[in-house]
Amino acid sequence: MSLNELQGLQATETVGDWVASDFRLANVFTKYGIDFCCGGDVPVGQACAEKGISVETLLRDVETAQATAAVGEQYNDWSIDFLADYVINQFHAYTRKMLPQLVQYADAVANAHGAHHPETITIAGMMRPLALEMLDHMNKEEKLLYPYVKQIVNSHNTGAPLPTPEFGSAEALIVEMDKEHEETGDALEQFAELSNNFAIPEDACNTYRALYNFLAEFEATTKKHIHLENNILFPKAIRMEKELAAA
Ligand SMILES: [Fe+2]
Ligand SMILES: [Fe+2]
Repeated sequence: MSLNELQGLQATETVGDWVASDFRLANVFTKYGIDFCCGGDVPVGQACAEKGISVETLLRDVETAQATAAVGEQYNDWSIDFLADYVINQFHAYTRKMLPQLVQYADAVANAHGAHHPETITIAGMMRPLALEMLDHMNKEEKLLYPYVKQIVNSHNTGAPLPTPEFGSAEALIVEMDKEHEETGDALEQFAELSNNFAIPEDACNTYRALYNFLAEFEATTKKHIHLENNILFPKAIRMEKELAAA
C-alpha cells in the first residue's frame, strides 16, 4: 500500500488536512496520541516521527478505519456558511447545554470526594472559568465571526462589495479564536491527565460516574467542534476573504 493509493493522502500534508478530508481518521490519530484539532497543523510525516511510528503503520490503521466505519458527513464539501450554521446548531447548542451541568457535577463531586480524590477539586476549580471562557468564545463566533463569514460567502457568490468589519478582518478575529481554542484544548487535556483518562474509581458515586462519562464525551465532542472550525471553516473563510480583497 502506498500513500498515493489512499485517496491521494500525502505525508507532507497536515494532520488537520487528513482529518478534514475524512473524519474517520480522527480516531486513528487519537490512538497514537497525535493531536488533530488545535495542534493539527503539523505534517503527518513529522507527527508520526515525533511519536516514533512509521507512516506505513498509520496507513494500515487508516485503511482499516476506512474499511470498517461508515463514511459519515462530508464536512469538507459543505459551503462554509452552511457549516457555520451546523456548528452553531450542533456543537454550540450541545456545549451550552452541557457546561452548567458539568460545573454543577464537578462542584458536587469535589465536595463529596475531594478528600480522597484531590484531583476532583482541581477539576472543579478549572471547570467554572473554562465554562465562562467557552460561552464568551461562542458568543463572539455567533455575533461577530459567523455573520461576517456569511457576508464573505455572499460577496463571493454575488460579487456584492465586502464591508470591512469593526474587528478588522475575519483573519484577525480568527487568530484570537485560535488562541482561545488552544486554551480550551489545554484545559481538556489537563482534565484527561488529572482523571487518568476519565477512569472511574471504585468508590465513585453515581454523580462521579456521570461527571467522568460526561467529561469524556465533552472532550471528544469539543475536539470535533474545534477541528471543524480550525481545519475547515476558518482556513476556507480566510482564503475566500483574501481572494475577495485581491479581486
Ligand atoms: Fe465554535
Ligand atoms: Fe471556536
